[in-house]
Amino acid sequence: MFSAPRANSPKRTKTAPKIDQMIQKVRRYLESRLTPSRLRHVEGVVETSLELAQRHGLNPEHAEQAALLHDSQKWRTTEEQLAACERWGVHLDADDRAHPSVWHAFAGAAFARKRFGAGEEVCQAARRHTTGWTDMSALDMALYAADFCEPGRPYPQAGEVFRESMRDLERGALLAMRYRLQFLLERGASIHPRTVEARNQLLRRLENSNGSG
Ligand SMILES: [Fe+2]
Ligand SMILES: [Fe+2]
Repeated sequence: MFSAPRANSPKRTKTAPKIDQMIQKVRRYLESRLTPSRLRHVEGVVETSLELAQRHGLNPEHAEQAALLHDSQKWRTTEEQLAACERWGVHLDADDRAHPSVWHAFAGAAFARKRFGAGEEVCQAARRHTTGWTDMSALDMALYAADFCEPGRPYPQAGEVFRESMRDLERGALLAMRYRLQFLLERGASIHPRTVEARNQLLRRLENSNGSG
C-alpha cells in the first residue's frame, strides 16, 4: 500500500538491519490497520520529515520512525484510544482528557515504545505532534511541521509552512502552530493550553535569538 518515494525524495541512508526490520514491521502494521487515505498522509509525513531531517542535520532514522508511528493508533475510535492510554499506563492531565484529538498521539507514543521498542526521542515526537509542547526538540518540530505541511495537505498554507520549515525549523513550527490555532478558532473549537504555551515559548526563543544576534 505504501507507494515508492518520489524521485526527488531524499534517499534513506543505509541503516542498521535491526532498524530496517523495525521499520518494515511498523509499515506492515500500518498497512493492516490504516485506511488508504491515512496511509497516504503517513507516507507524506515520512517524505517531508526526511526532507527536513536532511536539511537540518537530524537523525533520518528517528525522523522516519516518528513519522511512521505518529498516527499509528488513529485507526481506533477515540474511546479506544483513551482505553489504550489507560491500559498502557499513560498519564493524561485534565486538559488532555478534555481534548480527545490528542489521545491518539499519547496512545501512539506508548504503542511505539511497547510494541516496537522505539527510543524516547521518537516517542516524544509522536506524543507531541498534535499539540506541540514547550521545549520542543528539533525532531519534535520537524514532525509537527511535517504533519501540517506534507504534500497531501489540501490547504494553501502547507506550502508556506514547508518552505519556512526548510529555512528555519523553529519558524516553520511556529507558523504551523499559528495556522492550527487559526483553524481551531475559526471552527469555534477548544484549544489545548499546551499549544498556546508552546507557541508563546517559541516566540520568546525567537525574540531572544534575534536580540542576541
Ligand atoms: Fe495525528
Ligand atoms: Fe498526522
